Amino acid sequence: MSAFDPTALVRAHIHTLPAYEPILPFEVLSRQLGLPSERIVKLDANENPYGALPGAMRLLGEMPYPHIYPDPSSLLLREALSAQLGVPAENLLAGAGADELIDLVLRLLIEPGDTVLICPPTFGMYAFDGNLNRARVVSVPRRDDFALDLPAIERAVQVEHPKVLFIASPNNPDGSLAPLADLEQLLALPVLLVLDEAYIEFAPPGSSLLQQALQRNNLVVLRTFSKWAGLAGLRVGYGAFPAALMPYLWKIKQPYTVSAAASTAALYSLEHYQELLTVRERILAERERLFSCLSAVPFLHPYPSQANFILCQVEGRDAAQLKQGLARQGVLVRYFNQPGLQDCLRISVGRPEHTDRLIAAFNSVP
Ligand SMILES: Cc1ncc(COP(=O)(O)O)c(C=O)c1O
Repeated sequence: MSAFDPTALVRAHIHTLPAYEPILPFEVLSRQLGLPSERIVKLDANENPYGALPGAMRLLGEMPYPHIYPDPSSLLLREALSAQLGVPAENLLAGAGADELIDLVLRLLIEPGDTVLICPPTFGMYAFDGNLNRARVVSVPRRDDFALDLPAIERAVQVEHPKVLFIASPNNPDGSLAPLADLEQLLALPVLLVLDEAYIEFAPPGSSLLQQALQRNNLVVLRTFSKWAGLAGLRVGYGAFPAALMPYLWKIKQPYTVSAAASTAALYSLEHYQELLTVRERILAERERLFSCLSAVPFLHPYPSQANFILCQVEGRDAAQLKQGLARQGVLVRYFNQPGLQDCLRISVGRPEHTDRLIAAFNSVP
């Protein structure tokens, strides 16, 4: 072996970068727990428990051109999105999930040391991609009820001069929606607001700012097919961007990140929107039932949610042990123990039978 040390080549800031901690993949968990995957109730990553539409699955099996590179501009998908959303295709960019677009915006805008503002507790990728892109990531914590602390954000914008402010609405992990009046107030600030609407399809109509992305030069709205359309494994999302940024985004985007399979399934989902609305109705009905079931568990305090998951404060029990106890019974939920999220469990809305298994498991954890 030569004395050559390849780790000496690694960019300096990556040595100290905190790694993103993804949840364990399904196959790995199934092996670890010694349970077949169909026995596992997976409520830890806010996926759609009904999966992709059966018609989309059939189409994927019949794809004529998997050996041909996909269209780098995702033209058909952007046109279909445009027709559905009423936003010109010229303002839309598709990516391998909203995750790719979060990174892309930062790659475009951030010089080392530039500031990115986040409002934790929130989705971990904003800080992860901020750090990866050598931003200074500044936190303005949410209030105890998870509402945005507007005066503190305004002060931080004045003092820190961030380039980008990330807000998720509904927010992950608590499911609260940012009131439109709050977002309006943020849009008056000299910062690019990246509004992450990954869960907006589960919120009441009229909660989105997507239609405004054209009139505002400082608003980006991100969406995904991962949640409402059940395509998390295929990786496809999109964003609406100010027209002025589009040429730069096209310039730096990797051409083939949206696979032919992802485009096929996303297009099918848009064409069969009504079917997906039925799925959405089932998820919303189950969210209500899950909330009342969780409220009845003596050591849980669930927070109201406008998304497809419910955050619970655990009271008088060890949340980490509860999570482990559920996992041993094949029920997976997300555990948090960090500032603003002490002893919390986040539980995705599953099918009715998943709620039944979850509640039975809670009741039998010693
Ligand atoms: C707030 C938020 N934004 C974006 C994503 C990622 O979406 P995608 O699967 O499209 O990358 C998630 C996934 O959990 C999320 O919670």
